Amino acid sequence: MKNFISVHDVTDINALVKKALAYKADPFKDRLLGADKRVGLLFLNPSLRTRLSTQVAAKNLGMEAIVFNVDKEGWALEFEEGAIMSGNTVEHVKDAAPILGQYFDILCIRTFPSLNNREDDYSEMYIHQFIKYAGVPVISLESATLHPLQSLTDIITIQENWKNINRKPKIVLTWAPHIKPLPQCVANSFAQWMNAWGEAEFVITHPEDYELAETFTKGATITHDQNAALENADFVYVKNWSTYTDYGKMYENDPSWMLTEEKMTITNQAKVMHCLPVRRNIELSDEILDGPHSLVSKEAGNRVWAAQAVLSEILMDKK
Ligand code: CP
Repeated sequence: MKNFISVHDVTDINALVKKALAYKADPFKDRLLGADKRVGLLFLNPSLRTRLSTQVAAKNLGMEAIVFNVDKEGWALEFEEGAIMSGNTVEHVKDAAPILGQYFDILCIRTFPSLNNREDDYSEMYIHQFIKYAGVPVISLESATLHPLQSLTDIITIQENWKNINRKPKIVLTWAPHIKPLPQCVANSFAQWMNAWGEAEFVITHPEDYELAETFTKGATITHDQNAALENADFVYVKNWSTYTDYGKMYENDPSWMLTEEKMTITNQAKVMHCLPVRRNIELSDEILDGPHSLVSKEAGNRVWAAQAVLSEILMDKK
């Protein structure tokens, strides 16, 4: 694996999941693989799980991980080619990235979308500029449109919790209310990985006007009827996202879209997933999050094994 910015960087999803679960069973089995190697974790936005799980994963492989909060501690970066830098940006990525490429063997980057300009966000300029100029492998820690480490984690968690070999699980991605517009990354990415994986009956449900980009959802069943979607679901993935068509807006915050125990009775005793952080009793009720159906905490724990599998693939490729 050269870079990890989407499912397209993965040749065999099931093999990568198997590798992650092998690390879960024996975290230190490749403790020397990353010896004398350094990974740089660059954050242009906040994180709890992604940051810490990737640090733990690197440590398990014998790598040193160095975190740099670019948004708070670094010079403001410019990403536009040919920019006349008379504004707030201080350093161009084409100057900064090659230096980081000399300091680190692998660069990991988190950048959120602006939610102001869809064309800019969906061009994924930030992460592509790092790949262009760093000269070392780049791992996305969530970008403007995708969150591949989260989606790999989600498939790991589903595989761990689905033991029925006689049929595929029904997996529902449902929109949930929120208090402010959020990126589409997690939903886009989950849809992209589900469709590429192909080992589930995959349904997306959301209110009207919350369509996601077809490039990620193509292949899924899409409905505005949440109850119909939830019928006989085995897994329910809960997530808010802002509008894609009239970009970055929050048209409504209908609380009836929040998943409750009552709605869960329609499902096949489904397991509930969420990437976290979650707004309790807005996106998901306490009763679900604290109840027996929730996989949320285990899912977050699995972030380590996803990161470890990806770091391992890239280290092996570099050998
Ligand atoms: N799910 C996730 O990416 O969490 P963080 O934003 O805390 O990293």
